Amino acid sequence: MSKMQKDFVPALAHNWLTPLYDTAIALTTREGRWRKLLLKAVDPQPGDTILDIGCGTASLAIRLKSICSQARVIGLDPDPAVLTIAKRKADQAGVNIEFVEAMGDAPPKSVEQAGVTKITSSLVLHQVPLDGKRAIIRKAYELLPPGGCLHIADFGEQRTPLMRFLFGAVQRLDGIEYTQPNADGILPKIMRDCGFSPVEETNVIPTMVGSISLYRAIKQ
Ligand SMILES: C[S@@+](CC[C@H](N)C(=O)[O-])C[C@H]1O[C@@H](n2cnc3c(N)ncnc32)[C@H](O)[C@@H]1O
Repeated sequence: MSKMQKDFVPALAHNWLTPLYDTAIALTTREGRWRKLLLKAVDPQPGDTILDIGCGTASLAIRLKSICSQARVIGLDPDPAVLTIAKRKADQAGVNIEFVEAMGDAPPKSVEQAGVTKITSSLVLHQVPLDGKRAIIRKAYELLPPGGCLHIADFGEQRTPLMRFLFGAVQRLDGIEYTQPNADGILPKIMRDCGFSPVEETNVIPTMVGSISLYRAIKQ
C-alpha cells in the first residue's frame, strides 16, 4: 500500500474493470486515429524527456518510445494496479520507460528534476475533479521550460446534441461532476489561466462515446 495521499478515479472508474481498459478504449474511442494524431503532434525527438501524466496502461508512452528510442519517456500514474499492466506491456514491447507512482499534481523530485521538455496527458482530465484539473495543468506549466509544449487528448467540448448524448456513456461511468466541465469546454480556459499561450484545439475526433479533442499549449 502506497503511503502517499491518493484519491483518484481508476482507468475505467472501477478497479475490477482495469484489466478490460485497453479493450474498451480500442472498441469505443477510434483509438488508432487520435493516438496517431497525438503522436504526430508530440513528435518525439532524441534529447526529449517526455512526461506522460496519467499514463495508465502505457499505450501512449510505449508508442512514444517506439517511434523515438532516444527520447526519455516517463509514465506517471497514481494507480499501482494499472502500472503493473503498463510495466508488463512495456517489457513485452521491449521498450525502456520509467514509471512513477504519483498524482499528476504531485510528482516526486526525480520528475521535477528530470528536465522535462514535453508533457502529454490522454483521457485523464475528464475523470479528475475541477481543482485537480487545474492543479495538474499548473504543475505541467511549472515543469516545462519556456517553449515547452503540453499535449492533451481528452473528451473536450461536446458541441452537438449527438456528441452530448453519446458522451452520456462516459458520464454514467465516471460521474457528471468530473466530466461535465470537460463537456462544457473548460480545458483550454484552464490552460490559458495557467499561463499557456497559445492554446489550440488542433483536432476534434467524433467517437461513439463523445468527441475527443487534441490540444496543444505552449509555455512562453
Ligand atoms: C482513462 S485512463 C487513461 C490512461 C492513458 N493515459 C491512456 O491514454 O490510455 C486515466 C488514468 O489517469 C489516472 N489518474 C486518475 N487521476 C489522476 C491524477 N490526479 N493524476 C494522474 N493520473 C491520474 C488513472 O489512474 C488512469 O490510469
